Amino acid sequence: SGYYQSGGAYGFRDQLQDTMALIHATPWLAREQLIRCAERQFIQGDVQHWWHPPNGQGVRTHFSDDYLWLAYATCRYVSATGDTAVLDESVPFLEGRELNPGEEAYYDHPQRSNETASLYEHCVRAIKHGLRFGEHELPLMGCGDWNDGMNLVGDEGKGESVWLAWFLYENLQLFAGLARSRNDESFAELCAEQASQLRNNIEAHAWDGDWYRRAWFDDGIPLGSSGNDECQIDSISQSWAVISNGGDPAHARQAMTAVYKRLVRRDAQLIQLLTPPFDKSDLEPGYIKGYVPGVRENGGQYTHAAIWTTMAFAMLGDGERAWELLALLNPVNHASQPTDAERYRVEPYVMCADIYAAPPHTGRGGWSWYTGAAGWMYRLSVETLLGLHLEVDRLRLAPCIPAHWQSYKIHYRYRETVYHITVRRVGEKSEHVSRVTLDGAVVPGAGVDAAGRPQGMIPLVDDRREHFAEMELS
Ligand code: GLC
Repeated sequence: SGYYQSGGAYGFRDQLQDTMALIHATPWLAREQLIRCAERQFIQGDVQHWWHPPNGQGVRTHFSDDYLWLAYATCRYVSATGDTAVLDESVPFLEGRELNPGEEAYYDHPQRSNETASLYEHCVRAIKHGLRFGEHELPLMGCGDWNDGMNLVGDEGKGESVWLAWFLYENLQLFAGLARSRNDESFAELCAEQASQLRNNIEAHAWDGDWYRRAWFDDGIPLGSSGNDECQIDSISQSWAVISNGGDPAHARQAMTAVYKRLVRRDAQLIQLLTPPFDKSDLEPGYIKGYVPGVRENGGQYTHAAIWTTMAFAMLGDGERAWELLALLNPVNHASQPTDAERYRVEPYVMCADIYAAPPHTGRGGWSWYTGAAGWMYRLSVETLLGLHLEVDRLRLAPCIPAHWQSYKIHYRYRETVYHITVRRVGEKSEHVSRVTLDGAVVPGAGVDAAGRPQGMIPLVDDRREHFAEMELS
């Protein structure tokens, strides 16, 4: 329960995302959350959008992304920790009445099913449930995807979501790898096949000329297109083209240039979710239109998505822009002068969910202490920018640092063992990692990653002795 929303329910996708940020510090909490969420999945593969512990009353909906976060977080947890045993944990399903086609949601107390399956099978069922496509062979949007205010775009069962297509694409790619490592060849193949078809379908139908569209309404009208009067461009279809690694490289770059031009508002220090906000046009996307233009998802800075924008620039290799945007996101920079604080009006030491983007409230923060933004902000800073990636028994360090940084240090605790890591720039450029040493000995594997960005490896052992690593960028 927070200042801005008193609830006490568990949110399926929100808390899975939050725990994904805990992989380094408290991985067991991420593990517990995977099991807890799998228990909220119906035998058909869909899940409760939120529920009240301990009894489990909650809502069954036509949200189209919730269940995929289970597979997504499971892949991340396993690839970071190597704990494949979690995949064999046996977890029961829920049973309840299925939603009627025209029914958006219902609240109930579903029963625990006699059917149980491994966490792996739960994820398989989630992905299979996600393979439902519309006219452009893109995934159906249902009564909402990540943006829960867009509840009328696809509620009649025909509208499709482009953001969801990217998200599904990434799930299929990640899960193909996981399935292969479990010798589940047939599912791995299905995932790989579906992923490649999906990617082709997105490029064939969702490219709008300068960026990717956001969705199609049930009646076939596109959303997030230059032809719309409102919501011509939505950031999440662009940033996930990069984050999912699915976008055609030239298109993805062009799309992010459009985001920078149309959605990054340096004057007001914010990154909008979409523009122009919904207001007077004939479009009826759902309750998002009920927010005042420029507030929350309706064209404000929705910080969660603004962080994805920043991640995408970093992943394109544009470190300078990523750091520029990080400075916009940093709450401290919204309250450094009394007049700023007067405008921002929320705590400058925590993340807030949104910042309003239209007069008379431009620059005012809302819904602070927002873990949804904090978790992704932590990942942006620690993983995407400082470049720290845990890969079971090694750290892959892929720094993306500002030009004026000469060096930085990370004190990383791996279980009971502390690694003191110094990353140092030697020479002018920072195009590759030229040398890594661990306790004085050279470690192989320094160089660049598949995308040509600097990376080095540091092997980890939990021997409770202090270790010192040095990495040179040149
Ligand atoms: C709120 C919801 C979250 C959703 C986001 C965007 O933060 O809790 O589930 O993804 O808004 O609409």
